[in-house]
Amino acid sequence: MNVDGKSSKSGATILFSLKNEVGGLVKALRTFQEQHVNLVHIESRRSKRRNSDFEIFVNCDGDHRQLRELTRLLSQHTNVVQITSPSRNNDDELPVPWFPKKISDLDLCSQVLMYGSDLDADHPGFQDKIYRKRRNYFADLARSYKHGDPIPRVDYTAEEIQTWARVFRELNALYPSHACKEFLKNLPLLVEHCNYKEDNIPQLEDVSRFLKERSGFSIRPVSGYLSPRDFLAGLAFRVFHCTQYVRHSSDPFYTPEPDTCHELLGHVPLLAEPGFAQFSQELGLASLGAAADAVRKLATCYFFTVEFGLCKQDGRLRAYGAGLLSSAGELKHALSGEAKLLPFDPRVTCNEECVITAFQNVYFVADAFDDAKTKMREFAKSIRRPFSVRYNAYTQSVDVLEDSGSIRTLVEDLRHDLDIVEDALSRLNTA
Ligand SMILES: [Fe+2]
Repeated sequence: MNVDGKSSKSGATILFSLKNEVGGLVKALRTFQEQHVNLVHIESRRSKRRNSDFEIFVNCDGDHRQLRELTRLLSQHTNVVQITSPSRNNDDELPVPWFPKKISDLDLCSQVLMYGSDLDADHPGFQDKIYRKRRNYFADLARSYKHGDPIPRVDYTAEEIQTWARVFRELNALYPSHACKEFLKNLPLLVEHCNYKEDNIPQLEDVSRFLKERSGFSIRPVSGYLSPRDFLAGLAFRVFHCTQYVRHSSDPFYTPEPDTCHELLGHVPLLAEPGFAQFSQELGLASLGAAADAVRKLATCYFFTVEFGLCKQDGRLRAYGAGLLSSAGELKHALSGEAKLLPFDPRVTCNEECVITAFQNVYFVADAFDDAKTKMREFAKSIRRPFSVRYNAYTQSVDVLEDSGSIRTLVEDLRHDLDIVEDALSRLNTA
């Protein structure tokens, strides 16, 4: 109770699955209404615990008594899986959204928003029954994947390999004059280690192993677009969600959604670059537990850097964004001298409109990855969150720094690292 005698409001995250009865969701939501518990956020996710059920994930706000009664009543209509009372954001009194704390938590937040196996009517493969069946196959592979599993190897069809080959040829002709030098440095390594070639679609498992050695990134298969929050959360753990299916063969140079050509040719060469990997992870870490508007801004910055970013190298404009490096038409357009260009500034970039089915209205130019990283770091500090996070590479988990104990542990770790630096310097000086 507060000093004024009123119960203090507290936030909670509740995860529940529906019992097999008609109107189960309506009954559950009515319980929130009857208990006057305010729903802040609700979404459905396919259950990882049960094969076919969906789980409902709810952020809500009510006082302690309301939440206790709500939980009791909710368990009459649903199977309550998990209840957490997250810490609060003191600045705006909103509960902090749930976020994965360890890498295996990504199993709980890898549900697709768009496409997956259900194609929209304007998708090039919408009328093609064989293509749709194939997409169902890939969707099932991705849905049943769990952290730690090897990524299933795929026998690509002759038609899929032909589509890949056309994209591969067209883009490889442009890379020397259009791609940034980090991309050009890493692409031959992928040819050597992951069998990147015109008549072979590389396997995600091979690519994931390669990336792990180069930059610590690993790949997780996904069946379509993830929510920005879930996608960015993956980056926080150096996990990149990758599609495994190939675009429809009717138009190899257009796809309304990411496909494995986009991932393998656009993203992977730069994910192998440690500086770029660090940049990507910092974007992800900044998103954990952030409010919806902050996640939207970070996702927009991601879009105009990792997907559509340009940089200056040796006085020339070069592409590092995967959306450009996997689309010959837009790659040529972005560097044609006719596209609108602005310097990358997260405070401006975060409010630009992201275009999905046509060329971008504007492209943002970074001086270098380090420059983009410094600017993003400053921008991330402006995101209101009642804690800081630090990635613990030993346990592949996120340490939440919100009390003196966790901060003291970090200081001890840093002190040890500084001792190593001091020792190395003294050995240099005496050598
Ligand atoms: Fe992408």
